[in-house]
Amino acid sequence: MKGKITAAITAVGGFVPEDKLTNFDLEKMVDTNDEWIKTRTGIEERRILKGEGLATSDMVVPAVKQICEKRGINPNEIECLIVATVTPDMVFPATATIVCDKIGATNAWGFDVSAACSGFLYSLTLGASLIESGRYKKVVVCGADKMSSIIDYSDRATCVIFGDGAGAVLLEANENGFGVLDSLLKSDGSGCKYLHLKAGGSLKPASIETVLAKEHYAFQDGQPVFKFAVKGMADVSAELLEKNKMTGDDIAWLVPHQANKRIIDATANRMGLNPDKVMLNIQRYGNTTSGTIPLCLWDWENKLVKGDYLVLAAFGGGFTWGATLVKWAY
Ligand code: UT7
Repeated sequence: MKGKITAAITAVGGFVPEDKLTNFDLEKMVDTNDEWIKTRTGIEERRILKGEGLATSDMVVPAVKQICEKRGINPNEIECLIVATVTPDMVFPATATIVCDKIGATNAWGFDVSAACSGFLYSLTLGASLIESGRYKKVVVCGADKMSSIIDYSDRATCVIFGDGAGAVLLEANENGFGVLDSLLKSDGSGCKYLHLKAGGSLKPASIETVLAKEHYAFQDGQPVFKFAVKGMADVSAELLEKNKMTGDDIAWLVPHQANKRIIDATANRMGLNPDKVMLNIQRYGNTTSGTIPLCLWDWENKLVKGDYLVLAAFGGGFTWGATLVKWAY
């Protein structure tokens, strides 16, 4: 007899723009230096999407096309497509619907999820629930951000951290126990004051004043965010292991949100994981917000083995945070 339906990840796609912005480039733009950025964050370079008329959807499209090619499916077989992003092409409609149009996913419905750096985990849990319900067989979950569109490149507190990129996974119904097994997701809106974008929403619509005050750029008070992130990401990952009666020894890979190498190290430490079990590409891409976790899966896809247990963990604006347990399906 077959078991209950789970949502297996059956393909990963990714896209990073060609243009690189290195720490040395940033030294010429703001009062910073390569040594500070590397030791405080682990970042060496990040990718920037350049070109007139290019938006977040233009990074998601190649990532989803890769998935379709890898699995040999036609985009019109996708039933639902979710895009986690804080930099949608427009306030509305959802970037997901734009992506569906661009790739010819004519049978899919889609929507965006706004949960900052935890957006991919929130979306993965949602996508998995659609599959687990038995109503859907193929759901695509994307995490993508063109952070360069909301970064002030004269503000050293934020411009050294963020980059652009997109990743996506295909979720398919599985009856052999592979895929998304458990998720612990959290949020605390009182953290809003430390990390947000002040204007452009209904609270403060765009005006000449908001533009002049640079209120359309991401604001971050780094230290408190750091403090909450270290505790939040480590605690929730440990809680997820405990809940599933597992220890670090059972885990093949930690797939952490790439915000700061020091936050990642603290989480791995708390879970009792050696650094060689931790996916780390922050040095090459910086913090791509919703893109970090699927971009890690994309970079490590060839090293993953069927049956591997992965813990995906994130912390971000909101505050939002969480951890997800995945049993790799291929
Ligand atoms: O992904 C979403 C969630 N976000 C995060 O998880 C980010 C969490 N926060 C962080 O990763 C860190 O707080 C930052 C990387 C943003 C900043 O690192 P920090 O160690 O917290 O630095 P700080 O703000 O405490 O500043 C330390 C010093 C200060 O100088 P003084 O006062 O000690 O003389 C800053 O002015 O470093 C200075 N500083 C810089 N120096 C060179 C701040 N930014 C820079 C910079 N380059 N870019």
